[in-house]
Amino acid sequence: MNPLRHSGDNKVPTANKGKNSHPHVSEQAKKPPEQRLPLYRAVITGYGSFAPAKILTNDDLSDMVDTSDEWITTRTGIKRRHITTDDETTAYLATEAAKRALQQAHVDPGELDMIIVATITPEMVFPSTACFVQRALHAKKAWVFDLGAACSGFIYGLSIVQQFIESGRHKKALVIGAETLTKITNWKDRSSCVLFGDGAGAVVLEAAEDGRRGILYSTLSADGEQWEALNCQAYGSRHPSHEQLDDPDKIYMEIYGRQVYQQAVRRIVESVTDCMEHCKLTVDDIAMVISHQMNQRIIESAAKRLNLPDEKVYINITEYGNTSAASVPIAFDGCVREGKIKRGDIIIFVAFGAGLTWGANVIEF
Ligand code: ACO
Repeated sequence: MNPLRHSGDNKVPTANKGKNSHPHVSEQAKKPPEQRLPLYRAVITGYGSFAPAKILTNDDLSDMVDTSDEWITTRTGIKRRHITTDDETTAYLATEAAKRALQQAHVDPGELDMIIVATITPEMVFPSTACFVQRALHAKKAWVFDLGAACSGFIYGLSIVQQFIESGRHKKALVIGAETLTKITNWKDRSSCVLFGDGAGAVVLEAAEDGRRGILYSTLSADGEQWEALNCQAYGSRHPSHEQLDDPDKIYMEIYGRQVYQQAVRRIVESVTDCMEHCKLTVDDIAMVISHQMNQRIIESAAKRLNLPDEKVYINITEYGNTSAASVPIAFDGCVREGKIKRGDIIIFVAFGAGLTWGANVIEF
């Protein structure tokens, strides 16, 4: 018999009066998230990436705009980038990367509880790119959505999945960063068209309760005051497609590179420092920092301020250019496959981009 239902006066039994009936949960909840002991940890069990076959070199770009391989290489570190054909869409790239990550994790798509696609170049206005990926994978059980945080989207996505897994709500999730930035690139603007490429990267995350720790901490930030620094204005509700644009170039990405350069360095340093302080890590504890690949000079400048040696900073911008939300998972996949990190290593993902948005994750791989 339930004493509360049948006591007649609905009084709480004296032993529990004024106390939380789950004192352990209460004590845990008082601690900062990274010090709590969740029942489950969000562990990366699979990773994969996909880039379109077509390559655009710096020399190719020199035939299109007034630039040179020498300028692009010294200012950005980029030598070539992968670009989509008309038939290759964001959902296609995302699905291919997802298949590789799922295969690597030995996870059937039907087991997935949720799918996040981080992108600023979606398949269409709606439905979400994630719905197309869910359909292509036959991931019938998963609820899915797109996440628009530009270059920081993958970092934001990992943090969201971390919450669902640690709370015990979900067991298996897929986070994908996928972009076709060359479809919103102004090929007449030499200051932006040399920077971007297309691609996708994905990770499978699973709930672990066997001592593996997975995502240890995430830090996320945004500053909408500086939205104009990096933007693409058509065709949202502010500039709907039925109205003629005052500037036809609003259909393309616009970036004020010089304006955001210093911000990018500062926010990357801040995010990684936040991670190290919260998780009480020194540079010696960190196996690798995998940054969003926006500009080799920005990454190197941030690394210098963080006293990170070259071998702890992964750079693949030479091959891919800036692929926004896809950049960190593509770099992560490359880094693992090149044998530069191994299971058990502490790694940090960090990104900065349009919004402005920035953030980082600390992961025990
Ligand atoms: N080739 C030759 N010359 C060029 C080119 C080019 N492709 N582009 C610009 N220039 C010229 C400029 O016109 C300028 O000439 P001027 O001095 O006569 O005016 C000169 O080169 C220097 O231009 P800057 O813009 O000052 O060059 P900078 O060294 O800052 O490099 C760059 C530009 C690469 C864009 C850099 O500022 C950068 O990487 N910024 C950060 C971008 C970023 O953070 N991206 C992340 C987010 S992206 C996203 O969210 C989608």
